[in-house]
Amino acid sequence: MLKTVSLSAYYGKIRALTNVSLHVKKGEFVSLIGSNGAGKTTLLNSIMGHISNKTGKIYFDEKEITNFNTEKIVSLGIGYVPEGRRIFTDMTVEENLEMGAFLIKNKSKIKENIKQIYEIFPVLKERKKQIAGMLSGGEQQMLAIGRALMLSPNILLMDEPSMGLAPKIITDLYNKLKVLKKSGITIFLVEQNAKIALKYSDRSYVLENGSIILQGKSSELLNDNELLRAYLGKEYKDKWER
Ligand SMILES: Nc1ncnc2c1ncn2[C@@H]1O[C@H](COP(=O)(O)OP(=O)(O)OP(=O)(O)O)[C@@H](O)[C@H]1O
Ligand SMILES: [Mg+2]
Repeated sequence: MLKTVSLSAYYGKIRALTNVSLHVKKGEFVSLIGSNGAGKTTLLNSIMGHISNKTGKIYFDEKEITNFNTEKIVSLGIGYVPEGRRIFTDMTVEENLEMGAFLIKNKSKIKENIKQIYEIFPVLKERKKQIAGMLSGGEQQMLAIGRALMLSPNILLMDEPSMGLAPKIITDLYNKLKVLKKSGITIFLVEQNAKIALKYSDRSYVLENGSIILQGKSSELLNDNELLRAYLGKEYKDKWER
């Protein structure tokens, strides 16, 4: 469904991604893990058309989208939940969801989609009139995901959904992602939290200094602690042990 071929991305002369080739099949839950500054956000931003200084190719449903603009990419069915959630903190929960439907003209369709999102995330329904900035971190993350779901994407790209959340909340959130996957949505997320990403995803890639250094079935990588530690270094090892 989604594929990058030898994708490199640059900030000025600095290369942040080097020849990244990866793919996500329809219905899969794929994660890409890597530590601070590995290039995870850069990869998602490159796919979403936020970074124009790049080489290589990006395909969605067999169609090349490398140089498409963001709105076009979103309209094709790629949903994006950015790093740090970026919800509209001074708007209500429901207004945030409405903002996510910016490409839909039909008001009743928007209402219908909001209803569906409330079924997946009942907590958002309970708080629909609340100002989004008052939500807890976990609720804000669910809202950011809900907002991305408003356009009924085929694939959801997520940037570190676990960031800043307590372990129990992270587990709740990933269980919701499992529900989304069951409903037919393909998932591609990037994470520093390797343990949770490997536990819940089908396949994973490991990114280091802008290059993919390891890939495989998540269940196999999860049992391959030595390999991961060797690749991810001390900083990572400490996180892993926690
Ligand atoms: N706008 C920018 N201008 C210049 N360099 C940048 C810019 N954004 C990121 N970089 C650099 O590109 C590299 C990859 O950054 P990126 O944000 O993609 O990493 P990341 O894996 O998402 O890290 P984190 O886990 O901290 O979010 C880093 O060395 C970073 O300093
Ligand atoms: Mg990042």
